[in-house]
Amino acid sequence: MSLLELKGVGYQAGETTILEDVDLTINAGEWVTIAGPSGSGKSTLVRIIASLLSRTSGELNFAGKSIDTYDPIAYRRRVSYSFQQPTLFGETVRDNLSFPYQIRQRSFDEQRAVAALDYVGLAASDLDKAVIDLSGGQRQRVALLRNVMIYPEVLILDEVTAGLDAENKAFVWSMIRHFNGDDGITIIAITHDQSEIDVATRLVTLTDGRITGGTR
Ligand SMILES: Nc1ncnc2c1ncn2[C@@H]1O[C@H](COP(=O)(O)OP(=O)(O)OP(=O)(O)O)[C@@H](O)[C@H]1O
Ligand SMILES: [Mg+2]
Repeated sequence: MSLLELKGVGYQAGETTILEDVDLTINAGEWVTIAGPSGSGKSTLVRIIASLLSRTSGELNFAGKSIDTYDPIAYRRRVSYSFQQPTLFGETVRDNLSFPYQIRQRSFDEQRAVAALDYVGLAASDLDKAVIDLSGGQRQRVALLRNVMIYPEVLILDEVTAGLDAENKAFVWSMIRHFNGDDGITIIAITHDQSEIDVATRLVTLTDGRITGGTR
């Protein structure tokens, strides 16, 4: 069964049509790459999928039911959205990685945190490192990890590698491959990076708010 199903989805802001008649089906475990020119509606589309924005027309189903039937907070835990500028809080890496557990009144899974840090080239000893002492790229990696400490079903990545150098990009890529390949998390990743587009297993291209290429 398809995990996400969009039928004729549109988004209108006042008189302006930002998305029009978007049909897209995504199965559980897929890795979908979304590309297209700046302003073509990529972020708007994924924000709608993430329930951060409401479509103005069409249907959107998640796990066989309309998105409108889900509690938005519960839904956003299942479908997690990461954008480019990461914000870390608290004092340490541990504060950030344990936060998703705290808000669910669950105990911190330190073993999982250490395994996840290893995916992105960080060590167990980094758990107690102050976030102000991390490099920009390390901050980005920790922010991404925070979103997957409690497995989401869908991880939406909105240009998360933009502005990162090759080494940091490679870490983020390896992390995403683990989450998709080992943990079966469905990935929807927006990118402008041609090397990421070239290796996409499933590419969807948007132009002027419409899907103009790739496989629906
Ligand atoms: N609330 C809004 N009101 C009016 N216009 C909007 C609104 N939100 C987005 N837009 C416009 O909709 C278009 C699509 O924006 P969106 O952020 O989805 O593009 P994008 O494909 O993600 O671009 P980029 O690659 O630059 O991130 C842009 O022209 C943007 O200015
Ligand atoms: Mg965007």
